[in-house]
Formats: sequence, C-alpha cells, structure tokens
Amino acid sequence: MSSWTPDLSDRPGPRYRAIADALAVDVAEGRLAPGERLPTHRDLAFRLGVTVGTVTRAYAEAERRGLLGGEVGRGTFVLDPRPPDRPNPLAWHPRNDPAVVDLTAITPHHNDGDTALRAALAALAASPESLHALMDYGPHAGLPAHRAAAAQWMARRHGLEVPPDAVLITTGAQNALAVAITAFVRPGEVMLAERLTNYGTKALAAALGVHLEPVALDDDGLLPDAFDAACRRLAPKALYLVPTLQNPTASVMPAARRAEIAAIARRHGVLIVEDDVFGFLVPGAAPIQTIAPDITLYMTSLSKSVASGLRVGYLVAPPALFPRLEATARALHYCAPPLPVEIASRWLVGGQADRFVEVQRAECAARQTLARATLPSATVSGHPAAQHLWLVLPEPWRRDDFIGEARRRGVVVTGADTFAVGRAAAPHAVRLGLCMPRRRDDAARGLRILAEALADPASAALSIV
Ligand SMILES: Cc1ncc(COP(=O)(O)O)c(C=O)c1O
Repeated sequence: MSSWTPDLSDRPGPRYRAIADALAVDVAEGRLAPGERLPTHRDLAFRLGVTVGTVTRAYAEAERRGLLGGEVGRGTFVLDPRPPDRPNPLAWHPRNDPAVVDLTAITPHHNDGDTALRAALAALAASPESLHALMDYGPHAGLPAHRAAAAQWMARRHGLEVPPDAVLITTGAQNALAVAITAFVRPGEVMLAERLTNYGTKALAAALGVHLEPVALDDDGLLPDAFDAACRRLAPKALYLVPTLQNPTASVMPAARRAEIAAIARRHGVLIVEDDVFGFLVPGAAPIQTIAPDITLYMTSLSKSVASGLRVGYLVAPPALFPRLEATARALHYCAPPLPVEIASRWLVGGQADRFVEVQRAECAARQTLARATLPSATVSGHPAAQHLWLVLPEPWRRDDFIGEARRRGVVVTGADTFAVGRAAAPHAVRLGLCMPRRRDDAARGLRILAEALADPASAALSIV
C-alpha cells in the first residue's frame, strides 16, 4: 500500500478538494502509478490531520474524476488514465510515424495535461452557473475574469505588470499578431522583422499584403544600428521581434540592447510588436513593453507552456491603441472562444499552469544538456533554456544537403531558408525543435543520428554526374 501523503499547504479551499486536486497532479506527473493502492481513509486522515469523512469525500471526488477505482475488501486503486488500445479518431499528424524523429516544430514537451483536463471538465460540469456564460458570445476583449487571470499570469511568469483592461484575449499569439497587424499596418506598408523570423509572421504578412523587410541580427538578436538604418531608408510602420528565445536562433537580447531598440523606435515613430511566447522560460528577461509601454503591442500565449490546442493568447496594448484592437478583434473573430479560455484561466489561478511551466523548464534543460553533449560544440547556438536549438552547420555541409541526409537517416529538421525574410541568402543552419518528440529517448536518438551525419561529410556528396 502506498504511503502517499500530499502536501496541501499551498492549496486553499475545502480540504477534500485539495486532496483530490493533489492526487490528480501526482497521477499526471507519475508520482502515483496506475494500479497503486492508496492509504486507507483512516491512515490518510491521520497523516493529514483531517477527518475520515474528508478523505472519504476526497476519494469519492477523485473517483468521479476517473482517477480512482475501488473494490470492496481490496481498497482504493489508481486507475490507468490511458484508454484501452484503439485507434485514436483524432490522430492526424505525421509526427505519429515512429520511424521518423520529427524535430521540425517548436512544440512544448508533452506535459500529460490529460488528467488536468479531465479534472477541469468535471469541475466545469459541476458548476452549471458557469456553463451558460461559456456557451454565449463573450465581450470582444474577453471576459473580465479571464483578463484578470491573464494579467496575474503575465506578472508572475513574464515580468509584465499591466491592469486587466490592458489585456485582449486572443486565440493564440498568431491571432494576437493578426489582430495587431491588421489594426495598425495597412496593405503595402512596411513592417521590419529580424532577418530570420517566426514563419507564422512571414505567412501573415504575405496574407495581409504587408511588406516585411529584414533587419540584420547577431547572437544577441536584432542589431540596433541596422534597425536605425532601416528606419531611415524604409520609414516602416512597425517592427516585429522576438527578444526572448528568438525564433529560430534562440538568442536572448540583453537588457541594454532592448532599451536601445525602444529608443530608436520612439525616435522614428515606429510601433514595436513584441512577441514573447517563450518569455516564461527565461525569468528576469524584462520585455521591451516594460521600457516603452506606450509604443508597444505585446503578445504571448499559453501554447508553449500549457497546451497549444487550447489556442489561448494575450495581446497587451496601451489605452490609446486598445479600442482599435478591440474593433479589429470583433471584425476578425468576434471574441476568443470562452470555453478553452475558462479552462486555461482555472489552471492559471489554481496553480496547475505553474506546475506545467516547471515541468517544461526542467525538460527543456535536460534536452539542451543532451544536445550539447551529443552535437559538436561549435555547431550549437542559442540559449540553453529554449525549446529549440539553432544548429550552425560546419564546412563542408550545405544546408539542403544536410537536411536531405538527415531525412534519409530518419530525422526531419527545418532549414534556415524557411525563416528568411526576403530573398537574401540564408545561412547554412537548421532549427531543431528539441521538445517535439514525446519521449526524451527519441530526441536523444535523433540527436545521435544528426551527430553521426555531421561527422560524415562524405555523405553530402550526391551521385550527380
Ligand atoms: C515566436 C512565435 N510566435 C508565435 C507563435 C504561435 O503561437 P500560438 O500557438 O500561440 O499562436 C510561435 C509558434 O511557434 C512562435 O514560435
């Protein structure tokens, strides 16, 4: 029998629910395994200093959430949360091919949120007063409670102190970007971006007819002098950038350079569009928004920390710009769907999202260590907290040859040209989404294969005559 004794000290609210919540987390995070027998009601009550009735109620709640089962005379057991083997009707992605190690995307480490989701759905089902509001249209900027939860989260995890009414809820950072650009950059106008940038931004600019123009970057991110020169030459409307864990190079811009960029933008009347989807991975990297809140549109999301499928993002704007964003959100999607935002907000307020972040950060650190131990050190670039890694190819490798060779050996990666703005030559480098394979072992296998390929440049010679 397990000696499971949860720590309830940071769990406010009724004790029975705190016990059931702790149990859900411990099952999700593997501290309680399927089949494990739980302490008797009397034992656990004694250890926690609660009544036996409280434990009985807690176990009943956990049973209702599908976490526990019991048999008379045999006690209470942790149930296997996995459904029996049957085809998954929702599977769609080629990453499900077990023969291929797919490192193409920056996805978070799979955090086993299934248990948290089951618990959240059960809790929602038990609060009918909320359900009605969640089935209705919401306000364009989001429900007040959701904006308040977002503001608290950004203060805690992104170093951004803003009032809830500065926050517009979106369906992910991509949608926040769509709202921001649609609102403030007209078709045919110029927006600057790092020379290598988030592919979603390139796609959006193309769809909206916005001219994206490249600005040089180095190991610390966007170069201030190049930005200044581009402002003089092109009179841009806005600058889009990812100062923390830049996509694709994984650089983190130092504080002094952030201040320089803000000063240049102010001098030229350029709006800063700051994308901080990875900010939670680098505590202390203060967003540019904190230096120049009046000229910055700031966006982040829960895609990289909690779950990308919830499609929950946040757009922060100064009061003078907010009404135009709200009107644009209304034009594009009316409002973000309240149901997933409610689930996310419960996790933000209840502490579950913080636990997801801790799991995420630990897994990123472990995979980065693995990558740095496996790949030649001269090829590895980027900050070691990132979910991705920038692999700079050594001579004589050319980017496309390496991508082809890696593919032949069973690993897929994304080449620098995917991220290049404009038609200038892209570097001989590739991006590795280290957290994309669900299992760390698969990531390790992929990295070993890439290291072998790098060490064998003869394989770059194609049979072309
Ligand atoms: C820099 C950056 N911004 C935005 C996004 C899109 O985020 P979301 O899923 O919140 O739309 C990504 C996704 O990879 C990204 O890397």
